[in-house]
Amino acid sequence: MVCYNFVGGGSGIGRATCQVLAREGASIIAADRNIKTAEDTVSQLLDKKENEHCSVHIDVSESKSVKEVLQEVLRKYNRPPTIIVNCAGITKDNFLLKMSEQDFEDVVNVNLKGTFLVTQTFAKAIIEKGLNQASIINISSIAARNGNIGQSNYSASKAGVELLTKTAAKELAQFGIRCNVVIPGFINTPIVNTIPPELKNRFIANISCKRMGEPQEVAEVITFLASEKSSYINSASIEVCGGLLSL
Ligand SMILES: NC(=O)c1ccc[n+]([C@@H]2O[C@H](COP(=O)([O-])OP(=O)(O)OC[C@H]3O[C@@H](n4cnc5c(N)ncnc54)[C@H](O)[C@@H]3O)[C@@H](O)[C@H]2O)c1
Repeated sequence: MVCYNFVGGGSGIGRATCQVLAREGASIIAADRNIKTAEDTVSQLLDKKENEHCSVHIDVSESKSVKEVLQEVLRKYNRPPTIIVNCAGITKDNFLLKMSEQDFEDVVNVNLKGTFLVTQTFAKAIIEKGLNQASIINISSIAARNGNIGQSNYSASKAGVELLTKTAAKELAQFGIRCNVVIPGFINTPIVNTIPPELKNRFIANISCKRMGEPQEVAEVITFLASEKSSYINSASIEVCGGLLSL
């Protein structure tokens, strides 16, 4: 049985990735801080493997929660997942001069520390079990490339995710674990719903494809990186941003 863990599977890119991976025959573990939306993700999966899918509550910023989820998964599947997709992410935007210490910490704790905790915890379990083939896909952001006004916390956390992933790739390749990072641009999910329409239109004018991306378009790339079709891709950063002209 191939088993996929899916962190942040309750919404947006995470939910779309659950759907695409399930379409490819995967067993889905939709893990999210919002258990209700994770349950909805699983109930909406269209394939016939319902028994092998499950949803779990996780708070990726808490090591205790991440470890508990690993134990729950081991009890249910008798092995750790060999595909880990770290999709959990938050924004708490403000100008640098106005940003509170709390908002800075919250974003770094979920986006960067959460990615670290999940990557470390599940990689250890994969190695301990002697599984020789696994793929970890982390999600950065185009905002990490050049910074973005109002997002000093988010941009910095996502830049960290990219370099964390590249370092993990170099350390974990010897155990058959590939690590790659996907860099979405401007994708049509709840996380961008807070952006005022006039600002959204300004962003779209700056994309050569002249539209926002859909979550499924990111999910297809994640699924490729999860599969053996990408067996020689390691430590890569793949932009899925419709040819953003500048940010
Ligand atoms: N949508 C975009 O334009 C865009 C662009 C670049 C990067 N991203 C990144 O892609 C990833 C997915 O974003 P999305 O657009 O699907 O957003 P989303 O808000 O739809 O989904 C994020 C999910 O993360 C979960 N989550 C938040 N904090 C958590 C925690 N502490 N523990 C576990 N789960 C938690 C949320 O409940 C939610 O289901 C994020 O990392 C985001 O930063 C998104």
